[in-house]
Amino acid sequence: VAVRLADYTPYPFSIDEVRLEFRLNPAATQVRATLKVTPAGNGPMRLDGEALTLKSIRLAAEGAALAPLAEADYSVDEHGLTLTAPPSGPFTLETTVEISPEKNTALSGLYMSGGRFCTQCEAIGFRRITFYPDRPDVMSSFRVRIEAEKAANPYLLSNGTPGEAGDLPDGWHFAEWDDPHKKPAYLFALCAGEYDVLRDTFTTASGAHVDLGIYVDKGEAGRAAWAMDSLKRSMRWDEEAYGREYDLGVFNIVAVRDFNFGAMENKGLNIFNSAYVLADEATATDADFEAIESIVAHEYFHNWTGNRITCRDWFQLCLKEGLTVFRDQNFSADMRSRPVQRIKDVIRLRARQFAEDAGPLAHSVRPDNYAAIDNLYTATVYEKGSELIGMLRRQIGSQDFRKGMDLYFNRHDGQAVTIEDFYACFEAATGQDFSQFRRWYAQAGTPEITVEENWDEANTTLTVKLSQFTRPTNGQPVKKPVPVPLLSALLDGKGGHVAATDRAAEPFLYVLDTETAEMVFHLPAGSGRPLVSLNRDFSAPVRLTRALNRDERLALVRAETDPFNTWDGLQTLIKEEILTLADGSQKAPDLALVGAIGQAVRGAMNDPAFAALLTRLPDVGELFLEREPADPVALAAARRKLQAAIAAELSPEITETLAEPSPAPYNPGAEQASIRALRSAFILLLGGRGDAAETLHDLYRNAPNMTEQLSALRALTLSTGPGREEALADFEAQWKQNPLVMDKWFSVQAALGTADDVRRLIAHPDFDLRNPNRVRSVVAAFAMQNLAAFHAPDGSGYAAVEETILAADKANPALGARLITAFEQWRLLEPKAGAQAQACLKRLIAAGLSPNAMDIAHRALEGDA
Ligand code: ARG
Ligand code: ZN
Repeated sequence: VAVRLADYTPYPFSIDEVRLEFRLNPAATQVRATLKVTPAGNGPMRLDGEALTLKSIRLAAEGAALAPLAEADYSVDEHGLTLTAPPSGPFTLETTVEISPEKNTALSGLYMSGGRFCTQCEAIGFRRITFYPDRPDVMSSFRVRIEAEKAANPYLLSNGTPGEAGDLPDGWHFAEWDDPHKKPAYLFALCAGEYDVLRDTFTTASGAHVDLGIYVDKGEAGRAAWAMDSLKRSMRWDEEAYGREYDLGVFNIVAVRDFNFGAMENKGLNIFNSAYVLADEATATDADFEAIESIVAHEYFHNWTGNRITCRDWFQLCLKEGLTVFRDQNFSADMRSRPVQRIKDVIRLRARQFAEDAGPLAHSVRPDNYAAIDNLYTATVYEKGSELIGMLRRQIGSQDFRKGMDLYFNRHDGQAVTIEDFYACFEAATGQDFSQFRRWYAQAGTPEITVEENWDEANTTLTVKLSQFTRPTNGQPVKKPVPVPLLSALLDGKGGHVAATDRAAEPFLYVLDTETAEMVFHLPAGSGRPLVSLNRDFSAPVRLTRALNRDERLALVRAETDPFNTWDGLQTLIKEEILTLADGSQKAPDLALVGAIGQAVRGAMNDPAFAALLTRLPDVGELFLEREPADPVALAAARRKLQAAIAAELSPEITETLAEPSPAPYNPGAEQASIRALRSAFILLLGGRGDAAETLHDLYRNAPNMTEQLSALRALTLSTGPGREEALADFEAQWKQNPLVMDKWFSVQAALGTADDVRRLIAHPDFDLRNPNRVRSVVAAFAMQNLAAFHAPDGSGYAAVEETILAADKANPALGARLITAFEQWRLLEPKAGAQAQACLKRLIAAGLSPNAMDIAHRALEGDA
């Protein structure tokens, strides 16, 4: 363990101003940094620095001129620079370093992508650009000058607003940028190169004019239209929902092909993975459009939750990420269907975060130690972090939530703060005490809630016994109870709610904040037993266990008035059914359940996106959590069996729906996307039937948009007939020139094919180890979506990707580490596959991994490191 929350101390210097001067060259870029420094005491000054070649270092005490620093007055090591005895009063420090963007394959710091310069500084990439206190609590104002060859780099961009610009000798030119807002170094950005630009403008609520620009590869500006539209809607939404306006005259987004994550919220200059900017109907699916909308919003919302108010240290990452995910999820819910959005958020949470909680990488939303900060950008910090904000708002109500947020923005604007600071605002706004609630931030693991009902017929009294338990996780053997807000209702079974003698017939919030508790409902004499709806809208991120049989569950599903619970009730039944089929205790799918699913889908046809979700089967990874040891091969086979039965049940609806034309002209908005979601779900069901090759081929050939083309390709890839190869070859020929579409071609095969397919894909001339999107489209798609093949008991799945993981990690540790998280669930596997996974992890470690990847591999292997 390298860093501990408990060891936090403030930086003993303030950096009052930063001046950065770049002379850009792919092989050797010069960076001169001039820092105005005020010491807070006496003692050495430590600056972070990594992979920098120091060319000159000069210092000036106040009023004096810069003079070279004597060698005895500083030292440089692998991780930085120390001034052994800096002046005790204010001084200026100037360093000049040389870096090599073209050799930077880690994609952290300044690097080249598609022949252009770009940066990624969060969390600790700025130290790969210049010597600096690279920590979020050091905030300063930045002035930047960029010089570069003009022909290759007509655009020179950085944070803030543009200043002077002009030509220089020898075909060079320069541009100045000024960011008046104090910011931590991780929000610094620079982009330079040749782009096409999509421009627009926005007028803020108070009338300020903002120039918007999206910078993309040549010829791609048209495909940035949806991102631009999403940006303007995000800017308006933050004004309306939170009263937050944009605070600069310029807002730019740059799309880059090679990027380790989704996107980055650099002040005034967001940098995006091009996958989350570029879209049109022919090349992007509705899921892509939706992701663009939500990521554009996410990064934009960071301007207030992250940039204006940032984190004191990286332990507080959820302060900005959990809150900003919460904000973007609500934006998406407002743009589209709130219940559908909620269901999708929960699917993601369960698939990624519950899995994390159940394995050796489990950690709390605010961890108190880490070895590699890059490894803390997790589903727990982001998605569970968002759930905690959602619980907070549900408990105090949206008005008090807004009050607390307003106070937070007023009190801490321009500061780097902690989770405690955040909750202090809500304590001040509501007068409530959140100390027990904050346990959610400190305890890892998913709470398990057990429900037992007892109906006293004579006294018409229903008692619901609740208990909570959180399993031990690494380093946390014993857990305390957390407050679990359960949105609940009593149902009459006819689509209505029931009143108790002391309770109106309305949903209510019950907070379980002890280990066990009872809800007691006295019903009017003569009443029948009501049904209990719990954790509506997934009001708490917990696992709920209720000892109900199939018929009781079906009755509850039919009685539900909460769309989330309607969907979730069926999901639970489906999960149980797949488990039963997988363990062999039952041979054929339960027709009563299949019929009920069919009935639910037919009843939801007027809300097609919701109907589509009703046809969904839980992924194999989700099922790992339900029964140990997990046999992915048996689970995948059982899942397919049930899918085929559902397809047969819905046959008339599938035929009828797919006979209709797809909505035209194409619009990526919610209404059409919803219709296409059901069409796609039906296409996939057809694929599971195995007797629909002809139909699927027609659907593939005539698909009017990428959403349906890709669904048909998926369905065909699932089959084994000759049509499969034909469709894959056709798709490749059609889209060879478009890397983002080719990523889909790679990932469809990796997610649905065999280990041999994956070997073939890795050997394909267009497989590119340097491009994270491409690597993920093969390795992550295989390892995280194709669990039966990846965890094959003979180890063939691991063997197929082992070398590639090693090679990816050598060049790019953030990527390597992320791929290795695929092993996090190995302990849940049946013994043969588990042993192979363990052996593979050991081989990876023995072969030599980056420190980032080593951290994941060790924790995955040993648990408590
Ligand atoms: N702050 C960025 C976002 O969530 C992600 C940065 C990822 N950085 C990292 N080192 N994992 O929008
Ligand atoms: Zn974020």
